[in-house]
Formats: sequence, C-alpha cells, structure tokens
Amino acid sequence: MLFLRKLDPKKDISNKYKKWMNDKEVHKFSAQKLKKHNLSSIRKYVKEMNNSKNEILLGIFIKKNNKKDHIGNIKIGPINFFYKTAYISYFIGERNLWKKGYGTKAIKEVIKIAKRKKIKKLKAGFVEINPSSKRVLEKNGFKKEGILRSEEEHKNKRYNAFIYGKVL
Ligand SMILES: CC(C)(COP(=O)(O)OP(=O)(O)OC[C@H]1O[C@@H](n2cnc3c(N)ncnc32)[C@H](O)[C@@H]1OP(=O)(O)O)[C@@H](O)C(=O)NCCC(=O)NCCS
Repeated sequence: MLFLRKLDPKKDISNKYKKWMNDKEVHKFSAQKLKKHNLSSIRKYVKEMNNSKNEILLGIFIKKNNKKDHIGNIKIGPINFFYKTAYISYFIGERNLWKKGYGTKAIKEVIKIAKRKKIKKLKAGFVEINPSSKRVLEKNGFKKEGILRSEEEHKNKRYNAFIYGKVL
C-alpha cells in the first residue's frame, strides 16, 4: 500500500533521505544535483516547505507488514491560486524500487489531494531523455501540451523538454 503525507522535520530526515538527495542518478534531471545536501539542509528545506503557502511537499511511503517506509517525495507547487493550477514534481529515491509502479501510484494519490484542494489543472515537465517520467504522467492521463525546444543540456548535448498537463 502506498500513501503520501507531509514530512516531519524531526522524524523523517534520515541518512537514507540524505543519500537520495546526493544521488546523481536520482537527480540527474533536477537542479538538486548541483548542491551538496546534509541532514540540516534537508531539515531546513522540509520546514520551509511545510510553512509554504503555495507548495505542498509530501513524502511517498509504502506500508508492508505494518512497516512504513519512506521511498521518495512528490511536490504540488508552485500553486497558482488565481487560476487554480499547479506543477507537480517527484522522485523515488530508492533506485531498486524503480519500475515497480510506485511513481504511477504516487501521482494517482497526488491527483486526489489536488482535487481536494480545488486545483483544476496539474502540470509537469520532463526532458525527452527521461522516458519513465513521461510514462508515469501518461499512465495518469496527462497529455502533451508543449515542447520547450533545446531546454536542457546533459553531457554537452541539448535536449527538448515537454510540458504535460491534466485537467482535473
Ligand atoms: C520518474 C520516476 C518517479 C518513475 O517512478 P517509477 O516508480 O519507476 O515509475 P513506475 O514504475 O510507476 O512507471 C515507470 C514506467 O516507465 C517505464 N520506463 C522506465 N524506464 C524506461 C525506459 N528507459 N524507456 C521506456 N520506458 C521506461 C516503465 O516500464 C514503466 O512503464 P510501464 O508501467 O508502462 O511498464 C522514477 O524513475 C524516478 O524517481 N526517477 C528519478 C527522478 C525523476 O526523474 N523525476 C522526474 C523528474 S521530471
């Protein structure tokens, strides 16, 4: 069973979480890879997110045999309250848990939360060389809305990025 909840800056900031944040493969397509993360910088970020008015950071947890495991994060935000739209972003930090359906389920759960918050549309961006991110959005009914040509550089090569959207 997979569920999402806000992170506790005291209890949820683990060495495992720190390892994910410093994992260049997990954050290959995110600006997080440019930073060195430690327990206190992560705690500070979680506190900031928990106090934020327009971003909702949630931990992705799986529950097996009564044991709850934090496996990644998903964020709704920034939220545009005027137009009732928001971006989402996500990662599964444990690489050995990729391709097991957790990313898809996490987005499914975040859609329910966004609906409860009266958000009418979600958007997400990904670079063309990230097929699993494309797939988890497609499996949740997101549609291609835009191409950002030559948006990102990876290993000295420029790539297009896509914006996908789902009207809720
Ligand atoms: C993107 C991410 C969250 C997906 O999570 P996940 O738990 O692996 O996702 P799922 O298992 O639910 O689905 C992955 C889908 O991508 C597919 N996929 C994975 N690698 C692929 C590849 N190289 N080519 C084509 N499809 C691929 C899987 O087959 C699966 O689709 P299917 O169910 O139709 O077979 C995870 O890979 C991740 O955390 N990546 C690093 C962070 C990241 O890129 N975040 C998004 C930034 S935009």
